[in-house]
Amino acid sequence: SQMYLSGNDDIMETGVTYLMVNGESMEQLRYEDILDTPIREQYHFTPFVNWCNDPNGLCWYKGYYHLFYQSNPNEQKWGNMYWGHAVSKDLMQWKYMPYALKPQRELFQSNKLVGGAFSGCAVPQKDELQIFFTRDIEKIGDPESIRQSQWTAVSKDGITFSDEEELIPALSLKGADVNFRDPKVFFRDEKWYMLLASNYGGKGTILLYSSLDQKKWNFIRPLLQLDDKNVPSLECPDFFRVDGCDVLMAAVMGIRTKYGVYQPVQYYIGQWKNEQFTIRKTGVCDFGSNFYAVQSFEHLGRRILIGWICDWAGEHETIRHGAYGSFTLPRIVAVRDGVLYQKPADEVYRFAGDTLLEACHCDKAKVLIQQNNYYACIQFEGETSFEILAARDGDSYLKLRGDGRKLEILSDRNKDTQARYIAETQRIEKVELFMDRRVLEVYINNGEQVGTRLFIKHSKDGVFSAAFEEGQKVGHIVVKQMMPIWRENRG
Ligand code: FRU
Repeated sequence: SQMYLSGNDDIMETGVTYLMVNGESMEQLRYEDILDTPIREQYHFTPFVNWCNDPNGLCWYKGYYHLFYQSNPNEQKWGNMYWGHAVSKDLMQWKYMPYALKPQRELFQSNKLVGGAFSGCAVPQKDELQIFFTRDIEKIGDPESIRQSQWTAVSKDGITFSDEEELIPALSLKGADVNFRDPKVFFRDEKWYMLLASNYGGKGTILLYSSLDQKKWNFIRPLLQLDDKNVPSLECPDFFRVDGCDVLMAAVMGIRTKYGVYQPVQYYIGQWKNEQFTIRKTGVCDFGSNFYAVQSFEHLGRRILIGWICDWAGEHETIRHGAYGSFTLPRIVAVRDGVLYQKPADEVYRFAGDTLLEACHCDKAKVLIQQNNYYACIQFEGETSFEILAARDGDSYLKLRGDGRKLEILSDRNKDTQARYIAETQRIEKVELFMDRRVLEVYINNGEQVGTRLFIKHSKDGVFSAAFEEGQKVGHIVVKQMMPIWRENRG
């Protein structure tokens, strides 16, 4: 039988888990009470309760995919970061594990500090899982007080970590300010390398360190710097090789527009040589704007990427025992003709169930869905103009509008009513929609462009309706129910 949701070790037996509050008091929670709150996605990963950001330590180790993540177990907002942990056999159904890392307790008891165990990565060794992460100490509301240092720890079973050791102390690099975090470690040309997010010489920078033994780390150079005063740091750097290209990714911190914060994940395709990176092509990873702090890893020849579905405008309700924050579907990365592709992993499609609608050569399609979690795929024959209503709740809507070359996500959200999220391509041949409670992921042409967008409302009834410009017909359209990952739902 399949493994599924679990809050801690004994959940499988008892169906009950305990919520830690400030690491002290305990509250009993049952699955049934929390699985079906309006703010829990049904087939995207969400934390058991409360807050999550950045995926961390993604890897395959001893027969399981491991997903660690920035987690605040106590509130539906950022603060007091733990490393949450979940494992999976299929990248979709996750079992919650005990927290892997906690904030330094003695420091945090005063309640005047936030911070804790910040983002990082995992490096599976033969008989050990090694993680690299940042310890952050900061006083609430005082950015000058921030101290960030790089640490490592190891685990035999992939669950319990020990032998924590500081590798690179805070404020140890001349020219770098308090932003100094998110180690990404990789092996290349007989050496270990570490990338760090920082502000160096006043600019948002990815720093490069190297090591022969993973203990002693030497600063080499800034690998990438942005010449933009508004960008204090390039967070959560990621670096990998795929299809003969080297790819660097970073979450661009701090860009503000008149609509609010816009923090894209930027990718750079280029070449790594002699500890330098030459960029050939740059792009935005996801045009939907609710996408940040992406991390990738390799398993059996697949480069798998998962991003955090963030909510900068903080528009969503907080609901007791709900989960605030979720992760994208697992995406497989490829580079084709100099373009970065991200398509949903095959495992995702195994959760597509009953067909709710299927048609060929139609000019209109409509289906009301009992649950707001579905998958839709439209294949176009020509350059078709279309409008798709993906979700609706009272007067609120989430729509897609396209003209054969351009696709725009439209919504009537409170705080950024006029914000526009647009993807352009040579020709739109295929559009796939994954709607899941508040989350929409749109894939164009098998991942040539991807957009992640949140819907502020969360009616339980989904709606899908598509219409094509007069005289135009669509090639093929199919809508399927998606099955929830949080229950044993397959034979
Ligand atoms: C990105 C980030 C990281 C940091 C973490 C803290 O969202 O700011 O740079 O390590 O979140 O939770």
